[in-house]
Amino acid sequence: MSAESTKKIAILPGDGIGKEVIAEARVLLELYRKRGMRLELFDLDLGADRYLRDGTTMPPEALSQIRGSKAVLVGALGDPRVPGNEHARDILFGIRLGCDLYANVRPVKALHDSIVPIRNKRAADVDFVVFRENTEGIYANIGGQLRRGSIDEIAINEDVNTHKGVERIIVAAFEHARRTRKIRVHMADKSNAMRHAHDLWQRVFAEVRTAYPDIDAEHIYIDTLCLRLVQAPEEFQVIVTNNLFGDIVTDLAAALQGGLGMAASANVHWADPEAVALFEPVHGSAPRLAGQDVANPFAAFLTVGMMLAHLGWPDEAKRVESAVALAVDQGKCTPDVGGTLGTKAAAAWVRDEITRSLDGFRSMLAP
Ligand code: IPM
Ligand code: MG
Repeated sequence: MSAESTKKIAILPGDGIGKEVIAEARVLLELYRKRGMRLELFDLDLGADRYLRDGTTMPPEALSQIRGSKAVLVGALGDPRVPGNEHARDILFGIRLGCDLYANVRPVKALHDSIVPIRNKRAADVDFVVFRENTEGIYANIGGQLRRGSIDEIAINEDVNTHKGVERIIVAAFEHARRTRKIRVHMADKSNAMRHAHDLWQRVFAEVRTAYPDIDAEHIYIDTLCLRLVQAPEEFQVIVTNNLFGDIVTDLAAALQGGLGMAASANVHWADPEAVALFEPVHGSAPRLAGQDVANPFAAFLTVGMMLAHLGWPDEAKRVESAVALAVDQGKCTPDVGGTLGTKAAAAWVRDEITRSLDGFRSMLAP
């Protein structure tokens, strides 16, 4: 498949293992570019190194450059040299909020039986998508501290839920279910305790579901969801939840698909597919693993797959996924998913497999 115009992609490796996995992902994108995909890659020098060098976290020029692109590929942010990680928050939330990327889409798909950690469950039992609200909730960071540092300290973070914000993420989840022919959407909240904010989620969910009579709309409390994800992950197809619960539950869910080294994500303004979108592996910068060639590059590769699908090449997402699945099957992967290879060698094996596959279907990429 060919794109009509060149797609600009900003690359932001960030910190720690983010640099290593994005270096490999970049080579993968170069491979596609050489084969005729019209991509223009440019680097954004943002992250802990830059912050420590000149105090810059997220300059407005960088945000304009990002807005003028089709996608931004981020590695990871977080560095022990910046104890408060203020640079990470400014950059990540700067893009998520600055571009109103309200849907954090996190697919949870186990690519091999061997990496499913639950007894009697197979890869086919773990295949769902989490739609995490990405612009409000606790992450709005509204609040304050009173009498800081004293025994009488009061610390408050407000949980912000707007009708518009709740509605648009729930609609995105239902739309996704319909497009991908899923029959079930679960909305997870804590309405038995958070009686104001999550009463809103309940009402909006009840409203929105009426437009999707073809889809089975289920409510589940977030704590029960954690229980059921481990007991019976096969019950889930599409899950929609708020920002904080989505953050937590996608780490749990990552464990079901082989760990954080296998979890990909997209941050999109769902209603406008032409707007810039941010793609990042779910894992963090893992400072203790950094610089040792041990980080699993597959989450970054699967994230590239999501990005290519978003840009109009859904077959390439499938190709990347199949190549990664084969690598795990053949043990051509890092130790976290059962192999013996380092970051570079595992990435190279998957790229070679993608090349082999492309050689069989060369016509698909012809410009
Ligand atoms: C994630 C991360 C971030 C989040 C952190 C780094 C702020 O955990 O993307 O899941 O909480 O959104
Ligand atoms: Mg997280």
